[in-house]
Amino acid sequence: MKNIVLTGFMGTGKTSVGRILASILGLGFVDTDEEIEKNNGKTVAEIFGSYGIKYFRYEESLMIKKISNRGDLVIATGGGAVLNPDNVAALKKKGIIVLLRSSPEVVYSRIGLESNRPLLAGEEDPLQKITDLMQQREDTYRESADLEVTSNNSKELVAAKIIRLLKERECI
Ligand code: S3P
Repeated sequence: MKNIVLTGFMGTGKTSVGRILASILGLGFVDTDEEIEKNNGKTVAEIFGSYGIKYFRYEESLMIKKISNRGDLVIATGGGAVLNPDNVAALKKKGIIVLLRSSPEVVYSRIGLESNRPLLAGEEDPLQKITDLMQQREDTYRESADLEVTSNNSKELVAAKIIRLLKERECI
């Protein structure tokens, strides 16, 4: 079976929905950010702080190449993963890309107070920053996706919607 790859902005539920999908479909679950953290013995925020964003993107690409070669997985990616076309190509080799889309307000309500989001750290107006960054990335997210689903509601409902879509497309 093809990997199911979840993409989308921070706080759209890639990790939490991914865990539910994997458990319902009996697939393995991998979160690229978590794997990078394990590999480096540091949180994403610490990696950004110590080594910078370029290093993080490099590690992210290596991790994506490695994970994409495996099968029968639900893969939750970091919000910036699909900005690199090489990552998209690797993920598509054995996977179907499902984009999760939430409104800036919902994203802000979910992640506004979390500290492990270096792209929002120190922002005076995080909602505005989320809105701008989401807008900048919108085309890239949509162009790289095979399917998209709105994820403003609960993770269980979003997982159910994804399963329905995958069945309709005869992917599962
Ligand atoms: C990023 C999103 C984060 C993490 C890093 C960069 C981004 O992942 O990979 O902070 O560029 O949008 P989540 O989408 O899981 O928060």
